[in-house]
Amino acid sequence: MQPRTVAAGEERDWSGRLARRTAGEDGSITAILALANAPDVLNFSGGFPAPEMFPTEIVGDLATRLFREDAAVSMQYSASQGIESTRDAIAEHLSRIEGRRPSDAELMITSGGIDAVTLISRSMLDPGDVVAVEEPTYLGAVSGFTGWNAVMRGLPMDAEGLVVAELEELIGSGVLPKLLYVIPEYQNPSGRVLSESRRRALIEVCRRHGVLIAEDVAYREIGFTGERLPSLWSMAPDCVVQLGTFSKTFFPGVRLGWAAGPPQVIAQLGVAKQNSDQCAGALGQRLVEAFLRGGHFDGQVRRQREFYRTRGMAMDAALKRHLPDDVTWATPTGGFFCWVGVPGVDTENLAHAAQANQVAFVPGAPFFAERVENHFARFSFSRATEEEIDEGIARIAQAIESLRAP
Ligand SMILES: Cc1ncc(COP(=O)(O)O)c(C=O)c1O
Repeated sequence: MQPRTVAAGEERDWSGRLARRTAGEDGSITAILALANAPDVLNFSGGFPAPEMFPTEIVGDLATRLFREDAAVSMQYSASQGIESTRDAIAEHLSRIEGRRPSDAELMITSGGIDAVTLISRSMLDPGDVVAVEEPTYLGAVSGFTGWNAVMRGLPMDAEGLVVAELEELIGSGVLPKLLYVIPEYQNPSGRVLSESRRRALIEVCRRHGVLIAEDVAYREIGFTGERLPSLWSMAPDCVVQLGTFSKTFFPGVRLGWAAGPPQVIAQLGVAKQNSDQCAGALGQRLVEAFLRGGHFDGQVRRQREFYRTRGMAMDAALKRHLPDDVTWATPTGGFFCWVGVPGVDTENLAHAAQANQVAFVPGAPFFAERVENHFARFSFSRATEEEIDEGIARIAQAIESLRAP
């Protein structure tokens, strides 16, 4: 259909010209980011690191040095797979923290975790392909996959994380996912950790059926005790692609991460990158490289673990102190979130009521890929002080009371 001719100065309606593929996309992440930056709001929305944790001094020194001595590389385009020396630094880093060094062909640098989701979708998914995910899961990944017309299947979790038997059942019913996306540590939004026996079971099933596992390790380093189970990628590099990001451990403004996986998959992600932003920003790559090579990573994550543990415990205490007895959550052991169930309350209504009291959080519905439940909410403790956490949860408690009042 030809667009209607409009007079100069008259506003044209572009909605009929948008790609059919994007119909129904609602920009929930844009809304979260907008809300998350609103002033005077007690903010429990967004997976935002605390600015206090940004290594500003170190980065300032490193950046000054890079501009002075490395401009020809840092300020230039890079290869689509990433700058060779930065890839080497990340390979070395993975060898140290994961006990396995990816080969050259197994590693590429991405512009962060969500970029890796897009690259995987772009290079692996045909319309109608099935992507299995934990239910609930990171909403950025859900919209990333559905944006490429994937059919999402949600798999339930219990205290040990993803219920692998449900994946077997799905496959047994004739539905073979092309991809399984999983967040094994401090899952966004539930905070759960996939147990070691489930990790083994998951790999066994996926290997047997040829399902590629996309392992998102965004919060892996932010466990409050520093203990860590083996990553899926280190256990099964033949059928796992690990999606890593420096957003939580370094700072999100750098927009930098990695994908480590089977060489054929990584090669195709590199092709997809050529057709999107071509390469991750060289300045960010060199900053990450200098940060890792300078030996700053371990001290940084040690500080973060303690810092976020204090905030997580403050939220746990505030939830206990203020919320009604029938509200459910698990005490966080890492990451940024408490996943809170409020029986009988639609949390979208609760979010509006809380917003009127200057408190922001994300209602749970967009985190469900298949069977939407609307009485959950994700409260992020990463960016609020202990006092703000207590005050914000008290205000949410009032909002729950007002919604439940007859
Ligand atoms: C599970 C998970 N993966 C990926 C990301 C995004 O990472 P990046 O900033 O590297 O795109 C987030 C951010 O909230 C996340 O929670």
